[in-house]
Amino acid sequence: MSTLRSAVPDLTETPRLPVVHEVAEHLQRTPRQLPTHYLYDRLGSTLFEAICHLPWYRIATVEQQLLATHARDIHAIAGPVGVVVELGPGSGEKLVTLLGARQRAALQVRLIDVSVEALEQASRALGAVPGLDVQLARATYEDGLAQLAHAPSVDQTLVVFLGSNIGNFDSADADRLLRAMRTAVGPGSSVLIGADLVKPEAELLLAYDDPLGVTAAFNRNLLVRLNRELGADFDLGGFAHRAVWNAGASRVEMHLVSLRRQHVCLPSAALELTFEAGESIWTERSYKYTAGQLRDMLARAGFGVAAQWERDGFALTLATPSRPATTSDQPTHDH
Ligand code: AVI
Repeated sequence: MSTLRSAVPDLTETPRLPVVHEVAEHLQRTPRQLPTHYLYDRLGSTLFEAICHLPWYRIATVEQQLLATHARDIHAIAGPVGVVVELGPGSGEKLVTLLGARQRAALQVRLIDVSVEALEQASRALGAVPGLDVQLARATYEDGLAQLAHAPSVDQTLVVFLGSNIGNFDSADADRLLRAMRTAVGPGSSVLIGADLVKPEAELLLAYDDPLGVTAAFNRNLLVRLNRELGADFDLGGFAHRAVWNAGASRVEMHLVSLRRQHVCLPSAALELTFEAGESIWTERSYKYTAGQLRDMLARAGFGVAAQWERDGFALTLATPSRPATTSDQPTHDH
């Protein structure tokens, strides 16, 4: 953490007890779950980077192509932006592509993520782009946005949320996050959202259950993490990765399926769980949208779409405030 220059306080230096509590509470839900953000420890972030290079997982590649093609259009529409805020910058490559094409020299960049690894990697990548003042905020997206809303910039802001990260939020949470973006930015500002579109099931399942087993490792690493950090005793060989397309909900789900009846201890929560054969732990949801659904989501949050570019089942949407932020846009902290 010492290498990070934080513009906002570290809001997620989570004490061990709440983590144990959150994990135990998720594991006792029906169906059993684990918090998705726990996928991203150092190894998990590295495995996700590897996923982005897989030929079957096209999100990162297609988005890069769209950004490279339309970066100048984005800057022309967004206007004289003084601050760029990226939620979940990943490797930083997307922002490098976008900002490499800008006209204006001096720019403040604020990166928001719970993962120190991602923040460090992205800030290294952005070191290659001249004229940037990069600030790092280790925080949840909502907390990072709330800090922005409390200290509004006089400059026009561009909020960037790429990689179909929005798809990892249930509808109500995605709406809430978009409203938080609306609250965080002033009238001349804009948001750029990258989101994966609905496509044939076979394509989606290959993307989330790749033949090399990288996504399986990414998913099962959650158990490695719980064993290491919380003293759990998950038998790695006892759980298999499974990706499911839930057409009714328009989402790909990742699960860890128990291969036999087994007991798992989480001593830090004084918890012993019994898994039946075939019982699963739901670890991630990845919603897939139509271009129209994305426009509707943005409209609900108070944004109007200025431009939308589509390629190979992926959409990049640039939107600007369509009305003043209202108090109903303020996110409520109910979970
Ligand atoms: C980060 N997020 C948008 C990825 C997704 O597609 O939901 C994470 C991922 N999970 C499996 N593969 C990639």
